[in-house]
Amino acid sequence: MAMDEGILQLFSGSSNLPLAQDVAHCLGMKVGQALVGVFANEETRIKIEENVRGSDVFILQSLSIPVDHHIVELLLMIDALRRASARRITAVIPYFAYAKQEKKMAGREPISAKLVANMLTTSGAHRILTIDLHAPAIEGFFDIPVDHLRAAPILVQHFRQLDRDDIVVVSPDAGGVGRANDFRQRLGAPLAIIAKQRPRPDVAEVLEMVGDVRGKVAIIVDDLISTGGTIAEAAHVLKMRGAVEVRACATHGVFASTALGILADSDLSELVITDTVPLPANAGDHKVRIVSVAPLIAESIRRIHENRSVSELFD
Ligand code: R5P
Repeated sequence: MAMDEGILQLFSGSSNLPLAQDVAHCLGMKVGQALVGVFANEETRIKIEENVRGSDVFILQSLSIPVDHHIVELLLMIDALRRASARRITAVIPYFAYAKQEKKMAGREPISAKLVANMLTTSGAHRILTIDLHAPAIEGFFDIPVDHLRAAPILVQHFRQLDRDDIVVVSPDAGGVGRANDFRQRLGAPLAIIAKQRPRPDVAEVLEMVGDVRGKVAIIVDDLISTGGTIAEAAHVLKMRGAVEVRACATHGVFASTALGILADSDLSELVITDTVPLPANAGDHKVRIVSVAPLIAESIRRIHENRSVSELFD
């Protein structure tokens, strides 16, 4: 135990309490008491109900829908903990939103991911623990340490159980090739790549595909699902190109608006996602399988607290 960092305490915002409770369970502790609510005027209201003086505090908050509200909750919790003299504050952000706005695509746009990073640092966070950032370069937006976990080993484990030697791993866009390549190396399978374009925001169109999927089980690997359009379009093209079955996995099931319906009507036979984002109650009706990142987050928290390596988990 790293005594100089104080005792370990875990708090949660309102975005993903079930995951925080699972992480606490893995650590053999309870989620700390905190009031996380709103005033009548809809301003966020926070009160940490336990003494945190001198403690090594972790706050778990996914930046899921409603995104901006969850960001403010997290910032105010960090501020409250800092003013209550926590010795070290780690923001555990299983899903980091605004990550697709990490550069300007056109003039007069913000770099939103950088602003979120600035706000977290300004509020008083000493460290960030997150999983599968859409763009790994976002780590560099922080001048505090970032531990960047990968869900790939957990997701790969799920597909190993299929015990098939006719799998092809598919990246649904050019930006995801590195991620899919890592995945296919872990699985020992070939790679196919889809080129996609977005004629307008939130609409995905497949342009072309490279690789042979005929007669194979295709596994699409993505970091997040928002509208479901990317994966549904990719599944359709893979079927047209002769894949016998199309499965998919993604770390973050953000599931905006009608995504679950789009995926239910798609050519997918299975979608595997993690619990970084809480899922709608009816998600199980839509071919969706969930694997938990709670043990991974818990082990990472333990290692950070004890000043042990986190990257060793992915060697
Ligand atoms: C894009 O670069 C991402 O990796 C995902 O493919 C994308 O965000 C998925 O969005 P949607 O589900 O709305 O197509």
